[in-house]
Amino acid sequence: MSLTFCNVHFTQQPEKVVYVSNSLLKMLKLSGKKSIYLRLGKISVSATIKPIKKSGKHLYLPAGIRNSIRVPKAGSIMLLNNNDEVHIGPLIGVLSDSAVRSVTHPFGNRTGFIKQLLREGNKRAYIFAFTPRDINWQQETILAYFLSETGGWTRKTVPLPDVIYNRLPSRRAETGAAVNSLRERFIRKKIPFFNWSFFNKSDVYALLENEPESYRYVPESFNGPSPDKMKEMLEKHHFVYYKPTAGSLGKGIYRLIYHPKKGYFARYRRSGSNVLLRFSSFNSMMRMLHARHGRSLRNYVVQQGIRLIEIDSCPIDFRFHMHKNGKNEWVVVGIGAKKAGKGSVTTHLKNGGQLLTPEQALSRTFGSRASDVLHNAKQVAIKLAEAIERNYPHLLGELGFDIGIDQDERVWMFEANSKPGRSIFKHPSLRSEGRSSLTHIFEHCLYLSKFRRRDEQ
Ligand SMILES: Nc1ncnc2c1ncn2[C@@H]1O[C@H](COP(=O)(O)OP(=O)(O)O)[C@@H](O)[C@H]1O
Ligand SMILES: [Mg+2]
Repeated sequence: MSLTFCNVHFTQQPEKVVYVSNSLLKMLKLSGKKSIYLRLGKISVSATIKPIKKSGKHLYLPAGIRNSIRVPKAGSIMLLNNNDEVHIGPLIGVLSDSAVRSVTHPFGNRTGFIKQLLREGNKRAYIFAFTPRDINWQQETILAYFLSETGGWTRKTVPLPDVIYNRLPSRRAETGAAVNSLRERFIRKKIPFFNWSFFNKSDVYALLENEPESYRYVPESFNGPSPDKMKEMLEKHHFVYYKPTAGSLGKGIYRLIYHPKKGYFARYRRSGSNVLLRFSSFNSMMRMLHARHGRSLRNYVVQQGIRLIEIDSCPIDFRFHMHKNGKNEWVVVGIGAKKAGKGSVTTHLKNGGQLLTPEQALSRTFGSRASDVLHNAKQVAIKLAEAIERNYPHLLGELGFDIGIDQDERVWMFEANSKPGRSIFKHPSLRSEGRSSLTHIFEHCLYLSKFRRRDEQ
């Protein structure tokens, strides 16, 4: 197997002959061969090849050939050859969708991010975006969105791709039978598909249960706790978080406190403001929770509360944005520190939180130890990502950890997001990390599609 760059030219020749420059023929070890299979994504066609005298690495595709495998454009691209098959590509698909969409924003408010990713990948690959509705399973093609020269969209039909980066937006969009069968179909066609789907909090904790080296970073947690279990946790820790396993953005989260002398306290967010209620008994607090959520409390997790480091009496936690690189290793690409809004249960920016750099956040508490604390937290995050991946049956290429650090420098993991948001990259000091995140997604696509030299750094 070898990998090389070449220049693809489109010709108007009627015969189905592919002309290959001599140095490219030699590079692909095809000298003397009469015919090859030419592949793009999951479609291949047999073609007669002829040498052409021209310096450099060039491939001339007549209309008949390029239409049958649907090559989207001429220009510089990679070739991967394997015996008598020459694979042009890679062809990379970014899967997304949006409930609110328009011609210019077919992926709603994700359109900007998707365009950035396509711009990054365009230099070295055929990269496009698509929604589940754009797939034609009979023909095994996709009506793709490519970036046009002017930064808008052009639609082209392409084969099923070599790899898919999944950014389907919502849990609801993803749990339907349609999306499940779509994923299964891609797997049957041996198309690497990452990331598989959203995580539930309790599923992630369960993945780590048999990994003691990692499980110690998860605060003690129980899924769907009985009232007895709730009481036991409150008596043991005096402070717990009670949160929906499939939640996000801090919705439905309670911070519960048991004070042996003063009673029970519940802090939460109600219609845009922070509420603190006191209850004289455990039962009256549970009645309030039941009245607000009823049976959906079965899908809640109770979790030991962690006393996070604080600035100005506001807790701080961290988002660690993790990627798999082109060598299939986990790396920490960006870290944002989030300071909770006054009286808020969570650090979400939507709830009044503030974004800081990790150095700003840690130096206030740990002084000269700050960089050691950060280094240690990075090692923990990598260990956690590796452990989650080991126990997860599907491909993962990106993770966003919500990480807490307590006064004793202990590191805790609250949540792992498989489709992490990108708001930390809006911080002026984290822009270059944002770009690096895009590069990592692309490099990992190259890795999964095999269009990457194993010795490349
Ligand atoms: N066990 C806990 N101890 C202390 N703070 C917590 C705990 N669990 C969650 N939090 C705080 O609440 C935030 C939101 O919790 P998280 O589990 O990430 O839920 P969501 O899915 O709503 O983001 C965290 O980023 C952290 O600030
Ligand atoms: Mg979170």
